[in-house]
Amino acid sequence: MTAEAPDAARRAVAAFVETFGAAPRYLVRSPGRVNLIGEHTDYNDGLCLPLAVGLELCLAFSPAEEAGALIEVFSEDREAPARVHLPPPALSASGPPGRAARAQAGWAGYVEGVVAAMGAAAGAGASRGWYGSLASDLPAGAGLSSSAALELAVARACAVTWRRDWDPVAAARLAHRAENHWVGAATGLLDQLACAASTAGHALRIDFRDLTMLPVAVPDSVVVAIVDTGTRRELVTSAYGQRRAECVRAAAGLGVASLRDLGDHLPADAADRLDPVELRRARHLVTENTRVRDVVAALARSDLARAGAVLLDGHRSLRDDFEVCGPELDAAVAACRTAPGCHGARMTGGGFAGCVLALVDAQSADAFAGAVLGDYRAATGRDGVVHLCRPVGGTSLIPVQEHLPRTTNDSMKESGQE
Ligand code: GLA
Repeated sequence: MTAEAPDAARRAVAAFVETFGAAPRYLVRSPGRVNLIGEHTDYNDGLCLPLAVGLELCLAFSPAEEAGALIEVFSEDREAPARVHLPPPALSASGPPGRAARAQAGWAGYVEGVVAAMGAAAGAGASRGWYGSLASDLPAGAGLSSSAALELAVARACAVTWRRDWDPVAAARLAHRAENHWVGAATGLLDQLACAASTAGHALRIDFRDLTMLPVAVPDSVVVAIVDTGTRRELVTSAYGQRRAECVRAAAGLGVASLRDLGDHLPADAADRLDPVELRRARHLVTENTRVRDVVAALARSDLARAGAVLLDGHRSLRDDFEVCGPELDAAVAACRTAPGCHGARMTGGGFAGCVLALVDAQSADAFAGAVLGDYRAATGRDGVVHLCRPVGGTSLIPVQEHLPRTTNDSMKESGQE
Protein backbone atom coordinates (compact mmCIF):
# COMPACT_ATOMS: atom_id res chain seq x y z
CA MET A 1 0.00 0.00 0.00
CA THR A 2 1.06 3.60 -0.35
CA ALA A 3 1.40 5.64 2.83
CA GLU A 4 -1.27 7.95 4.22
CA ALA A 5 -0.60 11.68 4.37
CA PRO A 6 1.56 12.22 7.47
CA ASP A 7 0.09 14.04 10.46
CA ALA A 8 2.82 13.94 13.09
CA ALA A 9 2.24 17.63 13.87
CA ARG A 10 -1.36 17.08 14.89
CA ARG A 11 -0.47 14.00 16.98
CA ALA A 12 2.43 15.75 18.76
CA VAL A 13 0.23 18.68 19.73
CA ALA A 14 -2.65 16.42 20.83
CA ALA A 15 -0.25 14.35 22.97
CA PHE A 16 1.15 17.51 24.55
CA VAL A 17 -2.33 18.78 25.42
CA GLU A 18 -3.25 15.43 26.90
CA THR A 19 -0.03 15.07 28.92
CA PHE A 20 0.39 18.63 30.19
CA GLY A 21 -3.19 19.94 30.10
CA ALA A 22 -2.41 23.07 28.08
CA ALA A 23 -1.44 24.01 24.53
CA PRO A 24 2.30 23.96 23.73
CA ARG A 25 4.09 27.26 23.09
CA TYR A 26 6.07 25.90 20.13
CA LEU A 27 5.95 23.20 17.50
CA VAL A 28 8.99 21.94 15.56
CA ARG A 29 8.84 19.82 12.44
CA SER A 30 11.96 17.92 11.54
CA PRO A 31 12.11 15.95 8.28
CA GLY A 32 13.68 12.64 7.35
CA ARG A 33 15.93 12.50 4.32
CA VAL A 34 16.81 10.38 1.35
CA ASN A 35 20.06 10.61 -0.50
CA LEU A 36 19.53 10.95 -4.23
CA ILE A 37 23.15 9.99 -4.95
CA GLY A 38 26.53 10.12 -3.16
CA GLU A 39 26.48 7.20 -0.75
CA HIS A 40 29.24 6.57 1.83
CA THR A 41 31.00 9.66 0.50
CA ASP A 42 30.43 11.86 3.57
CA TYR A 43 33.16 10.27 5.69
CA ASN A 44 35.49 10.22 2.67
CA ASP A 45 35.46 14.00 2.09
CA GLY A 46 33.29 13.43 -0.98
CA LEU A 47 30.10 14.74 -2.60
CA CYS A 48 26.48 13.86 -2.00
CA LEU A 49 23.00 15.03 -2.98
CA PRO A 50 20.37 14.39 -0.30
CA LEU A 51 16.91 15.92 0.06
CA ALA A 52 14.56 16.27 3.00
CA VAL A 53 11.18 14.54 2.66
CA GLY A 54 7.71 15.21 4.03
CA LEU A 55 7.84 12.19 6.32
CA GLU A 56 8.74 13.94 9.53
CA LEU A 57 9.03 13.99 13.27
CA CYS A 58 7.26 16.75 15.20
CA LEU A 59 7.98 18.01 18.70
CA ALA A 60 5.47 20.16 20.59
CA PHE A 61 7.10 21.87 23.56
CA SER A 62 7.03 24.70 26.09
CA PRO A 63 9.94 26.23 27.99
CA ALA A 64 9.73 25.66 31.74
CA GLU A 65 8.73 28.60 33.92
CA GLU A 66 11.66 28.15 36.31
CA ALA A 67 15.38 28.11 35.53
CA GLY A 68 17.35 25.08 36.67
CA ALA A 69 14.59 22.66 35.79
CA LEU A 70 14.46 19.54 33.74
CA ILE A 71 14.15 18.67 30.07
CA GLU A 72 11.44 16.06 29.72
CA VAL A 73 10.27 14.56 26.42
CA PHE A 74 7.42 12.11 25.95
CA SER A 75 7.20 9.98 22.83
CA GLU A 76 3.94 8.58 21.49
CA ASP A 77 5.23 5.03 21.29
CA ARG A 78 7.36 4.81 24.47
CA GLU A 79 6.12 4.54 28.00
CA ALA A 80 8.98 6.25 29.77
CA PRO A 81 9.89 9.84 28.90
CA ALA A 82 13.46 10.97 28.21
CA ARG A 83 14.67 13.13 31.11
CA VAL A 84 17.78 15.28 31.24
CA HIS A 85 18.62 17.32 34.33
CA LEU A 86 20.23 20.71 33.91
CA PRO A 87 22.98 21.81 33.82
CA PRO A 88 23.51 19.55 30.80
CA PRO A 89 25.80 16.53 31.12
CA ALA A 90 29.35 16.96 29.80
CA LEU A 91 30.07 15.67 26.31
CA SER A 92 33.61 14.38 25.93
CA ALA A 93 35.41 14.96 22.64
CA SER A 94 37.57 11.91 23.33
CA GLY A 95 34.88 9.45 22.35
CA PRO A 96 31.65 7.90 23.53
CA PRO A 97 31.27 7.32 27.23
CA GLY A 98 30.94 3.60 27.92
CA ARG A 99 27.40 2.26 27.90
CA ALA A 100 27.49 2.02 31.68
CA ALA A 101 28.32 5.72 31.99
CA ARG A 102 25.38 6.69 29.81
CA ALA A 103 22.26 7.28 31.77
CA GLN A 104 19.78 6.41 29.01
CA ALA A 105 19.85 4.05 26.07
CA GLY A 106 17.80 4.05 22.87
CA TRP A 107 15.94 7.15 21.69
CA ALA A 108 16.37 8.89 25.05
CA GLY A 109 20.14 8.66 24.61
CA TYR A 110 19.83 10.81 21.48
CA VAL A 111 17.88 13.42 23.43
CA GLU A 112 20.47 13.41 26.19
CA GLY A 113 23.40 13.58 23.76
CA VAL A 114 21.98 16.56 21.88
CA VAL A 115 21.22 18.41 25.13
CA ALA A 116 24.84 17.77 26.14
CA ALA A 117 26.20 19.04 22.80
CA MET A 118 23.91 22.08 22.65
CA GLY A 119 24.61 22.75 26.32
CA ALA A 120 28.37 22.77 25.72
CA ALA A 121 27.84 25.43 23.03
CA ALA A 122 25.40 27.50 25.10
CA GLY A 123 27.48 27.51 28.31
CA ALA A 124 25.75 29.28 31.18
CA GLY A 125 22.81 30.06 28.88
CA ALA A 126 21.69 26.42 29.11
CA SER A 127 19.88 26.90 32.37
CA ARG A 128 16.19 26.66 31.54
CA GLY A 129 14.38 23.36 30.97
CA TRP A 130 11.58 22.53 28.57
CA TYR A 131 8.99 19.82 28.29
CA GLY A 132 7.49 18.31 25.19
CA SER A 133 5.73 15.52 23.32
CA LEU A 134 6.88 14.06 20.05
CA ALA A 135 5.24 12.08 17.28
CA SER A 136 6.89 10.67 14.19
CA ASP A 137 5.89 9.38 10.79
CA LEU A 138 9.44 8.21 10.14
CA PRO A 139 9.98 4.48 10.44
CA ALA A 140 13.03 3.77 12.66
CA GLY A 141 15.92 1.84 11.12
CA ALA A 142 14.60 2.25 7.56
CA GLY A 143 17.47 4.49 6.45
CA LEU A 144 15.39 7.68 6.38
CA SER A 145 17.30 9.34 9.25
CA SER A 146 14.71 9.19 11.99
CA SER A 147 17.58 9.75 14.46
CA ALA A 148 18.82 12.91 12.76
CA ALA A 149 15.23 14.22 12.67
CA LEU A 150 14.96 13.62 16.43
CA GLU A 151 18.36 15.19 17.10
CA LEU A 152 17.56 18.35 15.15
CA ALA A 153 14.12 18.71 16.74
CA VAL A 154 15.68 18.54 20.21
CA ALA A 155 18.42 20.95 19.12
CA ARG A 156 15.77 23.40 17.92
CA ALA A 157 13.85 23.20 21.19
CA CYS A 158 17.07 23.88 23.13
CA ALA A 159 17.93 26.81 20.83
CA VAL A 160 14.49 28.38 21.34
CA THR A 161 14.51 27.87 25.09
CA TRP A 162 18.08 29.10 25.53
CA ARG A 163 17.56 32.00 23.09
CA ARG A 164 20.28 30.90 20.70
CA ASP A 165 20.23 31.91 17.03
CA TRP A 166 19.33 29.00 14.77
CA ASP A 167 22.23 28.18 12.47
CA PRO A 168 21.32 24.94 10.63
CA VAL A 169 24.91 23.97 9.86
CA ALA A 170 26.13 24.60 13.42
CA ALA A 171 23.14 22.67 14.79
CA ALA A 172 23.82 19.78 12.42
CA ARG A 173 27.43 19.63 13.59
CA LEU A 174 26.40 19.58 17.25
CA ALA A 175 23.82 16.85 16.59
CA HIS A 176 26.49 14.90 14.75
CA ARG A 177 28.85 15.24 17.73
CA ALA A 178 26.09 13.88 19.94
CA GLU A 179 25.59 10.89 17.65
CA ASN A 180 29.32 10.16 17.44
CA HIS A 181 30.40 10.92 20.99
CA TRP A 182 27.31 10.17 23.06
CA VAL A 183 25.30 7.55 21.20
CA GLY A 184 28.50 5.99 19.86
CA ALA A 185 27.45 5.66 16.18
CA ALA A 186 30.44 6.60 14.01
CA THR A 187 28.33 8.02 11.17
CA GLY A 188 29.17 10.91 8.84
CA LEU A 189 27.49 14.33 8.74
CA LEU A 190 25.16 13.66 5.79
CA ASP A 191 21.96 12.94 7.73
CA GLN A 192 22.11 15.91 10.09
CA LEU A 193 23.01 18.40 7.34
CA ALA A 194 20.25 17.13 5.04
CA CYS A 195 17.71 17.30 7.84
CA ALA A 196 18.77 20.77 9.01
CA ALA A 197 19.80 22.65 5.87
CA SER A 198 17.58 21.43 3.00
CA THR A 199 15.28 23.82 1.13
CA ALA A 200 11.86 23.04 -0.34
CA GLY A 201 11.84 21.89 -3.96
CA HIS A 202 15.58 21.24 -3.93
CA ALA A 203 18.13 18.56 -3.27
CA LEU A 204 21.27 19.75 -1.47
CA ARG A 205 24.66 19.19 -3.07
CA ILE A 206 27.14 18.95 -0.22
CA ASP A 207 30.90 18.91 -0.59
CA PHE A 208 32.24 17.32 2.57
CA ARG A 209 35.75 18.57 1.97
CA ASP A 210 34.77 22.12 2.88
CA LEU A 211 31.04 21.80 3.69
CA THR A 212 30.02 24.03 0.80
CA MET A 213 26.37 23.49 -0.08
CA LEU A 214 24.34 24.21 -3.19
CA PRO A 215 20.57 23.77 -3.55
CA VAL A 216 19.75 21.89 -6.77
CA ALA A 217 16.17 22.21 -8.10
CA VAL A 218 14.31 18.94 -8.57
CA PRO A 219 12.01 19.41 -11.61
CA ASP A 220 8.32 19.70 -10.72
CA SER A 221 7.47 17.00 -13.21
CA VAL A 222 8.94 14.26 -10.98
CA VAL A 223 8.38 12.82 -7.54
CA VAL A 224 10.93 10.98 -5.47
CA ALA A 225 9.33 7.64 -4.66
CA ILE A 226 10.64 5.95 -1.53
CA VAL A 227 10.02 2.22 -1.47
CA ASP A 228 10.31 0.87 2.05
CA THR A 229 11.23 -2.80 1.72
CA GLY A 230 10.14 -3.50 5.30
CA THR A 231 13.63 -4.74 6.21
CA ARG A 232 15.46 -3.01 9.07
CA ARG A 233 19.00 -2.57 10.23
CA GLU A 234 20.76 -1.31 13.33
CA LEU A 235 23.41 1.17 12.21
CA VAL A 236 25.54 0.92 15.35
CA THR A 237 26.00 -2.81 14.91
CA SER A 238 26.08 -3.03 11.10
CA ALA A 239 29.09 -3.37 8.85
CA TYR A 240 29.22 0.44 8.58
CA GLY A 241 32.31 0.71 10.76
CA GLN A 242 34.00 -2.00 8.74
CA ARG A 243 33.38 -0.10 5.49
CA ARG A 244 34.83 3.06 7.03
CA ALA A 245 37.96 1.17 8.05
CA GLU A 246 38.32 -0.34 4.56
CA CYS A 247 38.15 3.15 3.03
CA VAL A 248 40.87 4.39 5.39
CA ARG A 249 43.06 1.42 4.44
CA ALA A 250 42.44 1.98 0.72
CA ALA A 251 43.39 5.67 1.01
CA ALA A 252 46.56 4.77 2.93
CA GLY A 253 47.46 2.12 0.35
CA LEU A 254 47.18 4.72 -2.40
CA GLY A 255 49.11 7.35 -0.45
CA VAL A 256 46.28 9.90 -0.11
CA ALA A 257 44.71 11.40 3.00
CA SER A 258 41.20 10.59 1.81
CA LEU A 259 39.73 8.80 -1.21
CA ARG A 260 38.39 12.15 -2.46
CA ASP A 261 41.94 13.15 -3.20
CA LEU A 262 42.04 10.59 -6.03
CA GLY A 263 39.83 12.80 -8.22
CA ASP A 264 37.84 11.06 -10.97
CA HIS A 265 40.14 8.11 -11.63
CA LEU A 266 41.89 5.36 -9.74
CA PRO A 267 45.67 5.39 -10.24
CA ALA A 268 46.78 2.96 -12.98
CA ASP A 269 48.64 0.80 -10.45
CA ALA A 270 45.78 0.74 -7.90
CA ALA A 271 45.31 -3.02 -8.29
CA ASP A 272 48.96 -3.60 -7.32
CA ARG A 273 48.74 -1.44 -4.23
CA LEU A 274 45.42 -2.59 -2.79
CA ASP A 275 43.86 -5.90 -1.95
CA PRO A 276 40.73 -6.75 -4.00
CA VAL A 277 38.32 -5.56 -1.30
CA GLU A 278 40.09 -2.21 -0.87
CA LEU A 279 40.19 -1.82 -4.65
CA ARG A 280 36.42 -2.25 -4.93
CA ARG A 281 35.77 0.20 -2.08
CA ALA A 282 38.04 2.83 -3.66
CA ARG A 283 36.41 2.32 -7.07
CA HIS A 284 32.97 2.96 -5.57
CA LEU A 285 34.12 6.21 -3.99
CA VAL A 286 35.83 7.54 -7.09
CA THR A 287 32.91 6.74 -9.39
CA GLU A 288 30.29 7.89 -6.86
CA ASN A 289 31.71 11.41 -6.64
CA THR A 290 31.53 11.59 -10.44
CA ARG A 291 27.93 10.37 -10.34
CA VAL A 292 26.96 13.19 -7.97
CA ARG A 293 28.31 15.74 -10.46
CA ASP A 294 26.51 13.93 -13.30
CA VAL A 295 23.14 13.94 -11.52
CA VAL A 296 23.49 17.62 -10.57
CA ALA A 297 24.21 18.47 -14.22
CA ALA A 298 21.37 16.27 -15.50
CA LEU A 299 18.83 17.84 -13.11
CA ALA A 300 19.97 21.32 -14.14
CA ARG A 301 18.95 20.56 -17.74
CA SER A 302 15.90 18.48 -16.69
CA ASP A 303 17.46 15.42 -18.31
CA LEU A 304 15.65 12.87 -16.17
CA ALA A 305 16.60 9.93 -18.37
CA ARG A 306 20.27 10.66 -17.74
CA ALA A 307 19.76 11.28 -14.01
CA GLY A 308 17.90 7.96 -13.75
CA ALA A 309 20.60 6.06 -15.61
CA VAL A 310 23.21 7.41 -13.20
CA LEU A 311 21.10 6.32 -10.22
CA LEU A 312 21.05 2.78 -11.61
CA ASP A 313 24.85 2.88 -12.00
CA GLY A 314 25.08 4.03 -8.41
CA HIS A 315 22.99 1.08 -7.29
CA ARG A 316 25.25 -1.39 -9.10
CA SER A 317 28.30 0.22 -7.54
CA LEU A 318 26.86 -0.06 -4.02
CA ARG A 319 25.90 -3.67 -4.68
CA ASP A 320 29.02 -4.92 -6.45
CA ASP A 321 31.87 -2.64 -5.31
CA PHE A 322 30.84 -1.32 -1.91
CA GLU A 323 28.83 -4.47 -1.09
CA VAL A 324 26.17 -2.88 1.13
CA CYS A 325 23.09 -4.08 -0.77
CA GLY A 326 20.78 -6.89 0.23
CA PRO A 327 18.35 -9.17 -1.63
CA GLU A 328 15.26 -7.12 -0.76
CA LEU A 329 16.87 -3.81 -1.76
CA ASP A 330 17.98 -5.34 -5.03
CA ALA A 331 14.52 -6.83 -5.68
CA ALA A 332 12.87 -3.47 -5.00
CA VAL A 333 15.19 -1.69 -7.45
CA ALA A 334 14.43 -4.35 -10.07
CA ALA A 335 10.69 -3.80 -9.48
CA CYS A 336 11.10 -0.02 -9.86
CA ARG A 337 13.00 -0.30 -13.13
CA THR A 338 10.10 -1.84 -15.02
CA ALA A 339 7.33 0.18 -13.33
CA PRO A 340 5.51 2.98 -15.23
CA GLY A 341 7.12 6.41 -15.26
CA CYS A 342 10.40 5.33 -13.60
CA HIS A 343 13.59 7.07 -14.75
CA GLY A 344 15.90 5.19 -12.42
CA ALA A 345 16.22 3.76 -8.93
CA ARG A 346 18.79 2.80 -6.32
CA MET A 347 19.14 1.67 -2.76
CA THR A 348 19.59 4.65 -0.46
CA GLY A 349 21.21 5.20 2.94
CA GLY A 350 23.80 3.12 4.77
CA GLY A 351 22.66 -0.14 3.19
CA PHE A 352 21.79 -3.79 3.88
CA ALA A 353 18.12 -3.01 4.56
CA GLY A 354 15.58 -0.19 4.53
CA CYS A 355 14.55 1.79 1.47
CA VAL A 356 15.19 2.30 -2.20
CA LEU A 357 14.34 5.49 -4.07
CA ALA A 358 13.18 6.10 -7.61
CA LEU A 359 12.77 9.20 -9.78
CA VAL A 360 9.26 8.91 -11.19
CA ASP A 361 7.09 11.04 -13.48
CA ALA A 362 4.54 12.73 -11.24
CA GLN A 363 1.72 11.79 -13.61
CA SER A 364 2.55 8.08 -13.36
CA ALA A 365 3.20 8.01 -9.61
CA ASP A 366 0.15 6.01 -8.58
CA ALA A 367 0.56 3.46 -11.37
CA PHE A 368 4.25 3.21 -10.43
CA ALA A 369 3.42 2.49 -6.78
CA GLY A 370 0.91 -0.22 -7.64
CA ALA A 371 3.25 -1.99 -10.05
CA VAL A 372 6.28 -1.84 -7.74
CA LEU A 373 4.45 -3.22 -4.74
CA GLY A 374 3.00 -6.10 -6.78
CA ASP A 375 6.35 -7.04 -8.32
CA TYR A 376 8.22 -6.65 -5.03
CA ARG A 377 5.74 -8.92 -3.29
CA ALA A 378 5.98 -11.50 -6.07
CA ALA A 379 9.78 -11.49 -5.82
CA THR A 380 10.19 -11.51 -2.03
CA GLY A 381 6.85 -12.45 -0.44
CA ARG A 382 7.01 -9.17 1.50
CA ASP A 383 4.71 -6.17 1.60
CA GLY A 384 6.46 -2.89 0.94
CA VAL A 385 5.23 0.67 1.38
CA VAL A 386 5.67 3.47 -1.18
CA HIS A 387 5.94 7.11 -0.08
CA LEU A 388 5.61 9.64 -2.89
CA CYS A 389 7.67 12.68 -1.91
CA ARG A 390 8.74 16.11 -3.06
CA PRO A 391 11.69 17.85 -1.40
CA VAL A 392 10.78 19.89 1.71
CA GLY A 393 12.69 22.41 3.83
CA GLY A 394 14.84 21.53 6.85
CA THR A 395 13.94 21.54 10.57
CA SER A 396 11.75 24.54 11.38
CA LEU A 397 9.21 26.01 13.77
CA ILE A 398 5.62 25.91 12.53
CA PRO A 399 2.48 27.51 13.98
CA VAL A 400 0.90 25.61 16.87
CA GLN A 401 -2.58 27.02 16.37
CA GLU A 402 -3.59 25.16 13.23
CA HIS A 403 -2.60 21.80 14.72
CA LEU A 404 -4.51 22.12 18.00
CA PRO A 405 -7.26 19.58 18.62
CA ARG A 406 -10.60 21.29 17.87
CA THR A 407 -11.78 21.35 21.47
CA THR A 408 -8.59 23.02 22.74
CA ASN A 409 -8.66 25.48 19.87
CA ASP A 410 -12.24 26.43 20.65
CA SER A 411 -11.71 26.83 24.39
CA MET A 412 -8.60 28.94 23.73
CA LYS A 413 -10.64 31.16 21.41
CA GLU A 414 -13.28 31.45 24.07
CA SER A 415 -10.74 32.45 26.69
CA GLY A 416 -9.27 34.99 24.27
CA GLN A 417 -5.88 33.27 23.94
CA GLU A 418 -5.68 33.48 20.18
C1 GLA B 1 24.25 6.50 7.01
C2 GLA B 1 25.13 7.48 7.76
C3 GLA B 1 25.56 8.63 6.86
C4 GLA B 1 26.12 8.15 5.52
C5 GLA B 1 25.19 7.11 4.91
C6 GLA B 1 25.77 6.48 3.67
O1 GLA B 1 23.02 7.10 6.71
O2 GLA B 1 24.46 7.99 8.89
O3 GLA B 1 26.49 9.44 7.54
O4 GLA B 1 27.42 7.67 5.67
O5 GLA B 1 24.88 6.07 5.83
O6 GLA B 1 25.86 7.42 2.66
